Amino acid sequence: MKVSVMACEKRPYLGLLIAITCYTIGGILEQINVGVMAAPCYPALFVFGDSLSDTGNGNLTGNVFFTRTSQRPYGETVPGYPFARFSDGLLLVDFLATRIGLPFSKPYLNASADFRTGVNYAVSGATAQNASYLHSKLITPLTEISLDVQINWHLTLKSMTQDPNMPSNSSYKTGLYVVEIGGNDYISALTSFLYTPSYVTTNFIPLVIAKIKNATEVLYANGARNFLYIGVTPLGCSSSLLATFLLGPKDSNGCLSDINTLSYNHALSLSRLVNQLRLHYTDAKFTFLDYYAAYKKVIGNSSKYGFSNTLETCCGAGPAFPYRYNQALFCSTLSSTLLSTLCPNPNAFVNWDGLHFTHKFNSVIFNLTINGGSYLNPPKAFSTCMPSM
Ligand SMILES: *[C@@H]1O[C@H](CO)[C@@H](O)[C@H](O)[C@H]1NC(C)=O
Ligand SMILES: *[C@@H]1O[C@H](CO)[C@@H](O)[C@H](O)[C@H]1NC(C)=O
Ligand SMILES: *[C@@H]1O[C@H](CO)[C@@H](O)[C@H](O)[C@H]1NC(C)=O
Ligand SMILES: *[C@@H]1O[C@H](CO)[C@@H](O)[C@H](O)[C@H]1NC(C)=O
Ligand SMILES: *[C@@H]1O[C@H](CO)[C@@H](O)[C@H](O)[C@H]1NC(C)=O
Ligand SMILES: *[C@@H]1O[C@H](CO)[C@@H](O)[C@H](O)[C@H]1NC(C)=O
Ligand SMILES: *[C@@H]1O[C@H](CO)[C@@H](O)[C@H](O)[C@H]1NC(C)=O
Repeated sequence: MKVSVMACEKRPYLGLLIAITCYTIGGILEQINVGVMAAPCYPALFVFGDSLSDTGNGNLTGNVFFTRTSQRPYGETVPGYPFARFSDGLLLVDFLATRIGLPFSKPYLNASADFRTGVNYAVSGATAQNASYLHSKLITPLTEISLDVQINWHLTLKSMTQDPNMPSNSSYKTGLYVVEIGGNDYISALTSFLYTPSYVTTNFIPLVIAKIKNATEVLYANGARNFLYIGVTPLGCSSSLLATFLLGPKDSNGCLSDINTLSYNHALSLSRLVNQLRLHYTDAKFTFLDYYAAYKKVIGNSSKYGFSNTLETCCGAGPAFPYRYNQALFCSTLSSTLLSTLCPNPNAFVNWDGLHFTHKFNSVIFNLTINGGSYLNPPKAFSTCMPSM
């Protein structure tokens, strides 16, 4: 396991521009320059979602599937940085926080955290649909903390106005609200073996989108005016689903085509929702990040982005298993996963543990979308945004 040490520096130059540059010992891991013109940005970041955005709630629930994130090899590509994240380093929302000049968002379940610059409500395993509905469909979510529950957490927190560690009244209005959810609704339905991808497409996508819409309406009614929606990844490219449906038909990238069609349709429905919301709430700003398309772009040209392996798991069961993945040998510190089965260089892998991505992949997606404006609608959503601290 090659451990690279990364340090980031943020420096103003010409008085108007900010550069964030991250280096590793022995070479530049990434040099993400975000030189931008000065303009007001967001004083707070509120994040709703699942393990792709969870900065510590899953670990704090005590669920043994999630507490593994507070142990190596999780977080080990960027020592010294906070972990309790499903990655070897930082998440897309961490790069976003840095880009808009805020500290990483603190997990809601840490009651003593400083929430003045926002809150992270995302919980690993979270679904958009509520647990009672999923149970009625004989699906067992990994957590009951669905999107509605996260929204209700926000309303509870917002009512605690007197606490000095809480966001200010104006931050609730001018903060950025990120919603990244839906992947677990589809994964849990597919891995129940009760529903086909086409059934899930027809029957679940509208329910997931309705929950995202309802969440938006509740947040809007509570003052929120700036929204960023992050779609689901091409789930047919995840090592865990590839290893589960070994014989499924593949697309040109080697991903499961019917599951990718499902993910594509989620992106389409979510982008339509965003268009509807724009027409309805004309005093609010809605941004859509097409994670599906950005991901396909990167794996379709992986070597250009520095990846030599797009489908296998870095931290998993090792090369003896298809896609280096086995559910019983899921990446963890337990003796069931020998550290010798780790891939030699996580920076060359897209997939970290079968379901989640490497720090490097997250940084590439960030740079392409939020920083670069590709697969982002509107493309310049963050281009004039100056760090507020
Ligand atoms: C970030 O994107 C720019 C183009 O927008 C590219 O030139 C640069 O190499 C990218 N950096 C990383 C670390 O991917
Ligand atoms: C993970 O949660 C435990 C409590 O269950 C806490 O003591 C620990 O600090 C957390 N780890 C991280 C990295 O946040
Ligand atoms: C909770 O927040 C406090 C105050 O910032 C911090 O010292 C502590 O490490 C945090 N704990 C976890 C588990 O994140
Ligand atoms: C679950 O969501 C459905 C809508 O999908 C709603 O009708 C129902 O009241 C919700 N149940 C709970 C317990 O929140
Ligand atoms: C809308 O969201 C609120 C707040 O989370 C929740 O209580 C309510 O059940 C949701 N309604 C539907 C129909 O999903
Ligand atoms: C914040 O808003 C609440 C109610 O919405 C109000 O009671 C409180 O006085 C406000 N605080 C400040 C500092 O304006
Ligand atoms: C891959 O990158 C090369 C070099 O930049 C470019 O010419 C080509 O069009 C790209 N292919 C795709 C599928 O993006």
